Amino acid sequence: MFYDIHCHILPGIDDGARDMDESIQMALLAEQDNIEIAVATPHHIPRSNLSGKREIEDLVTKINRTITKNKIQLTVVSGQENKITDDLLDSIKKEDSLLIGSSNYILVEAPFIDFPDYIHETLSDLLDQNIRPILAHPERNSLIQQDLRLLEKLKDKGILIQSNTGSFIGHYGNKSVTAVKTMLKENMVDVVASDAHTSTGIRVPNMSKGFKIIQKLAGENKAFQLTSENPHNIILGNSIP
Ligand SMILES: [Fe+2]
Repeated sequence: MFYDIHCHILPGIDDGARDMDESIQMALLAEQDNIEIAVATPHHIPRSNLSGKREIEDLVTKINRTITKNKIQLTVVSGQENKITDDLLDSIKKEDSLLIGSSNYILVEAPFIDFPDYIHETLSDLLDQNIRPILAHPERNSLIQQDLRLLEKLKDKGILIQSNTGSFIGHYGNKSVTAVKTMLKENMVDVVASDAHTSTGIRVPNMSKGFKIIQKLAGENKAFQLTSENPHNIILGNSIP
């Protein structure tokens, strides 16, 4: 069984599923791929009206009801993919930014082209409050691709690193492939997720392809840890070393 902590499966809320039909197609693909739980993580910018708490919780209730009606074996849990801004902690306290389910983990996203200093400060502030950030797909950031020591600094603080299955497959270009393979080799990846956006094309819910590639590169135990054990513990709110 796989556990997918990064998935844009909610209908009509961001650049993921267009409507409930597409959400259900994505749920079917997830079921066929042996995904047991998917965390819905619409893009969210603190203080914006995009993907608010109430809207997400309503959609999670609706999608789970529709999934059950269609006899699909999948559970959707609430979350967000939060842009890292200097007021993120404040936004969490106001319940504008959501954690993953009822855990103390939060999925956060850095910019794609730079890596400003406030990111380190913001993430340290979260850790001080016992909130553990999970940085989404840093292998896609061009500065990190050039210098993985940036990531080491974050890891040393206790920040978890989530890579995309698509980065191993090559969906985001050669630089992401090289970065993610080096990160895997150097034990910098804590969890792998689909970051699925659609029911067709390359960005569909798909953990098994990532599992197979990691199995070849780093062995079955590592592949199991990154696609099943660690993401399951994150959803359950258990600690990850
Ligand atoms: Fe995403």
